[in-house]
Amino acid sequence: MSDTNKDIYPVFDWILLKSNKEELLKQHAQVIWMTGLSGAGKSTIAAGLEKALYKRGYLTQIIDGDNIRTGLNRNLGFSGEDRNENLRRIAEVTKLFLNCGVITINSFITPTKEARQLVKKIVGEDSFIEVFINAPIEVCENRDVKGLYKKARKGLIKNFTGIDSPFEPPENPDVEIRTDQLNIDEAIDKLLTFIIPKIEYKE
Ligand code: ADX
Repeated sequence: MSDTNKDIYPVFDWILLKSNKEELLKQHAQVIWMTGLSGAGKSTIAAGLEKALYKRGYLTQIIDGDNIRTGLNRNLGFSGEDRNENLRRIAEVTKLFLNCGVITINSFITPTKEARQLVKKIVGEDSFIEVFINAPIEVCENRDVKGLYKKARKGLIKNFTGIDSPFEPPENPDVEIRTDQLNIDEAIDKLLTFIIPKIEYKE
């Protein structure tokens, strides 16, 4: 920045950096992005992970459909275009948390390779941990926690992921959790083993 700019924009002299905030919080910020089918267990694992990190002294924020699709993105549906816009906005919001030193736990279907690439690019590759919360569609459909698969099969919900809208499984996730094979504690342990080295504060 030139000196002239400094005179015009004195704000640049005192604006705080991500590293200042990470020092305050004694943590390194990362985005833990959970992708997977509806009913695979993303929200359950996100809640369990947040609790486990809180106990270890980490400040986190869960970002998911409940707090985004009902507010910021309530004008968006489930067409391919709307999903991409949903995820683009979420990634931009996530970046604000990241720059504030906060670890975010995002749980969104994020159904396509294109969408995952988009959010990763916005957030920045170095800060992005891709977690595939995986269970076979039959298992998710059997669980049908929200009753949505039943509605989708009856044609009452259109463009339902895994039924009449695609889900492309991630090819190279940082962590994969098979929720039909691991219980919640095992899943959290597996995640912590990967995540802690990336978030623990090093002077
Ligand atoms: S994404 O595709 O844009 O990443 P997102 O994770 O925000 O999706 O929202 C998915 C949640 O919305 C599901 O868990 C489910 O509760 C609800 N939902 C409502 N309609 C659909 C649909 N057509 N396809 C998938 N999920 C839907």
